[in-house]
Amino acid sequence: MSDKPKTAAIEVENLSKTYREGLFSRRLDALRGVTLHVSAGQIFGLLGPNGAGKTTLIKILLGIIRKTGGDAWLLGHPAGHRAGRLRVGYLPEHLRMPPHHTALSALDYYGRLSGMSGRDIRARSQQLLLEVGLPADRHRDRVKKYSKGMLQRLGLAQALLHDPDLLILDEPTDGLDPVGRRHVRDLLGRLRAAGKTIFLNSHLLLEVEMVCDRVAILNRGQLRGMGTPAELAERSHQGLRLRLLLSGAADSIRSAVQGSDATITAAGDGLTEVALTLADQAAVDQCIDQLRQRAISIVGLSRQRATLEDTFLALLDADRRDDPGDVVAATAVESP
Ligand SMILES: Nc1ncnc2c1ncn2[C@@H]1O[C@H](COP(=O)(O)OP(=O)(O)OP(=O)(O)O)[C@@H](O)[C@H]1O
Ligand SMILES: [Mg+2]
Repeated sequence: MSDKPKTAAIEVENLSKTYREGLFSRRLDALRGVTLHVSAGQIFGLLGPNGAGKTTLIKILLGIIRKTGGDAWLLGHPAGHRAGRLRVGYLPEHLRMPPHHTALSALDYYGRLSGMSGRDIRARSQQLLLEVGLPADRHRDRVKKYSKGMLQRLGLAQALLHDPDLLILDEPTDGLDPVGRRHVRDLLGRLRAAGKTIFLNSHLLLEVEMVCDRVAILNRGQLRGMGTPAELAERSHQGLRLRLLLSGAADSIRSAVQGSDATITAAGDGLTEVALTLADQAAVDQCIDQLRQRAISIVGLSRQRATLEDTFLALLDADRRDDPGDVVAATAVESP
């Protein structure tokens, strides 16, 4: 391991993880040379389809499982080091709370594990539970009576209890209703404003786009893109995507947009909707000239921004085309 000082909240270099199991020592390459840096004070989103390796990466960062190769640091300490872990709040993917606990006794238990005093825990618990949207009249109910979303909220409170500098959240809005998701988005924004770093996994790309400063896309154990959501969206989209609402003869519309990738559909009220991609603004101006020369009225025109979802799906598609084989590289080799 290199001993250069680490300043980012999370630094991962050429990290790999191979799971080995079974009689025939089946190998599964869950991470294959991942490098990423997360600066302090950012909300960083790690995206990827099921089985991409997201949880594996998080578990290595926290020292729950061991890496096979490469390096990882958390708050300047090697991954798994106690000094780093004490300053991290973690929401696991499948949180299981002992069923006899109430929200308050669970927080007491987890707070003491983080080295907090009973007094500090009591001072923060009620307020924190309210902040994550768990109403006061349920704080003393046993967690076995909680709904999935209520448990998730308690899990978030547990991760925040010791006021950590870095939050690692594996699917923080899993199981939450739309109001709850909004609640969590606002909460993450407040934590960022307070200088915290947040590293999260999510499948909800629209939410990630709204809340994250930077994102990375992981597929089959490899990073396939990294940047701000806008940078990534831009990258997947060549040219300008337009949607036009037109009034005029269908033949004239077809001839005005011929040669482009236009899809033309009837939009009711005698209008026609055209969606097409043009190279640049000059091509847009030219297209409008063509329409106007044919006496076609432009009733509406909107420019469509590519979304993070477009990028995500395009990258996954490209990977599938390059290697239509197994989703994750897996080889079966006989044990020695
Ligand atoms: N303990 C384990 N033993 C063997 N293989 C494992 C183990 N844990 C995970 N894997 C495999 O490693 C790969 C990555 O799994 P991981 O849980 O990291 O994916 P993920 O990106 O978090 O997926 P999801 O979005 O479904 O949570 C998968 O193919 C999975 O089957
Ligand atoms: Mg996972």
